[in-house]
Amino acid sequence: MNEFNVSTFREHFPLLSKPVNNLPLTYFDNGATTQKPAAVIAAEAEVYQEYNANVHRASHALSAKATTAFEQARIKVQQFIKAEYLEEIIWTSGTTAGINLIAQSWGQNNLQAGDEILLTHGEHHANIVPWQLVAEKTGAIIKVLPLSDTGVIDDTLLEDFFNEKTKLVSFAHVSNVIGKVNPVEKIIQFAKKYNAITVIDGAQACAHFSLDMKALDCDFYVFSAHKMYGPTGVGVLYGRRELLNMMPPYQGGGEMIKSVSFLGTSFNHLPFKFEAGTPNYAGVIAFAESIRFIETFGLASLAKYELGLTSYCYNKLKQVESVTFITEQEPDTGVISFIVDNIHNHDIASGLDAQGIAIRSGHHCAMPLMEYLKLSGCIRVSLAAYNTVSEIDFFIEQLSLLIKNLLSVEKTLPIQPSELGTELSDEQKMLERFSAIKGWDLRHREIMLLGKGLSRMTKSLRNERSLIQGCESQAWLVATISEEGVYYFSCDSDARVIRGLMVIILAAYQHKSAQQIAAFDNKLFFDKLGLSQHLSPSRSNGLNSIVEKIKAIADV
Ligand SMILES: Cc1ncc(COP(=O)(O)O)c(C=O)c1O
Repeated sequence: MNEFNVSTFREHFPLLSKPVNNLPLTYFDNGATTQKPAAVIAAEAEVYQEYNANVHRASHALSAKATTAFEQARIKVQQFIKAEYLEEIIWTSGTTAGINLIAQSWGQNNLQAGDEILLTHGEHHANIVPWQLVAEKTGAIIKVLPLSDTGVIDDTLLEDFFNEKTKLVSFAHVSNVIGKVNPVEKIIQFAKKYNAITVIDGAQACAHFSLDMKALDCDFYVFSAHKMYGPTGVGVLYGRRELLNMMPPYQGGGEMIKSVSFLGTSFNHLPFKFEAGTPNYAGVIAFAESIRFIETFGLASLAKYELGLTSYCYNKLKQVESVTFITEQEPDTGVISFIVDNIHNHDIASGLDAQGIAIRSGHHCAMPLMEYLKLSGCIRVSLAAYNTVSEIDFFIEQLSLLIKNLLSVEKTLPIQPSELGTELSDEQKMLERFSAIKGWDLRHREIMLLGKGLSRMTKSLRNERSLIQGCESQAWLVATISEEGVYYFSCDSDARVIRGLMVIILAAYQHKSAQQIAAFDNKLFFDKLGLSQHLSPSRSNGLNSIVEKIKAIADV
């Protein structure tokens, strides 16, 4: 096979050459979802344009063609993960759906009060909450395996956790935050010794290793197509045939039945027993194309390149002032997580976004892991085989600059809400201020300046009562009311970007009566400021939460 050529590989991804906010895109959020190659996009479009028909339902030519392609995709997946039998491949909408299926079908029918489910501290919420739901119904108990300093499941403690009551162990092949490979084989061996079922969440593994279900010998393995250059809304549940045969259907509907009458219904055989309703056949067919695409370049070549890139990024990050990795050791896949001392994660993420760099900050759907590591959140860079050394250099340069700026103590003089002039309203002044600024990077800079200028609220005021629920980061708001019924608010947040946004909001709501507060259209204000289109829905939700708190205080 030829040496992997990143430029050639990259050319297959149309979105990577499109500007975002008028800036070249640096996409480092591949752990969340990968970009899609043109061939996959075309395969999905081709279904709808050339042979769209529901699968398995009709005897006409279009349905036959769609059904054949759909079932060929199943064979493709079977070969890709080396499953023994074709009927062991069940289509789902993704990893989350796969785990829920196992929990509801196997868990609900096999777990009893006092049985133990083993999870780990490193799990994604998708591999925690379905088990909590089933534990609540069955009386089973959840136990949690600890992690080592390098962030993998501590396999020296397995003997302490497994016992005769352990009925199931469910864990990630690779954590979506830590990026290290868990000791999967050893845990499976332990589970077998205790006759416990093994469920492996392969969401972060499927694009990086060749999988071999026969060799791995687990009971269930789940993954999502969208994390491996495939479409969204398609996932795979691999299950051992004997187990799947013993399990009752999870959902009822079309396709999963043999016959239905009001006297009773008999169920279809595998895999259809678990595939109620019209599947995402266009997505499934496009998924087969993404596997073909990966195979063209070779999974091993992609993984080798990614690993080199990860190592380069990790070592560069190590040299950046104030960066602390969340666990010890270089990761085994392209996921690198860190914090920056004394700077909020969202400030880093929003600052990099203003330069076209897409990374993630927050809890990464792994709140128990954050708690375990005593973090409120972290920053995650997740790489794919289309990323390049020069993108990493650009990221490191921008990150270093951002940290320097955010840590600088130089005094800037942004407006304070209370200091705004009298001839123009605070709100008009704010509109004037932003009308002069073009481009998201400069507007973002202005928001950060406003955040920097806002004086901190006394610690005693930052409490449960002043906390704003629904904000991405911690934020607080308190108010006083004058005898004339005019409100004065003070606010604070641990993220500077939120503090900046709060200053903007307060420019509109400060020194207003309850009536004026009720009448103000905040959405229009942000539209006029030219900020609405740059705020993610979660940040917009945060803004709404601030406004809701203001309105609740003013009782409007
Ligand atoms: C480890 C892990 N498990 C489960 C999921 C959920 O995957 P999906 O949203 O595709 O169902 C993710 C997604 O990020 C993940 O990283």
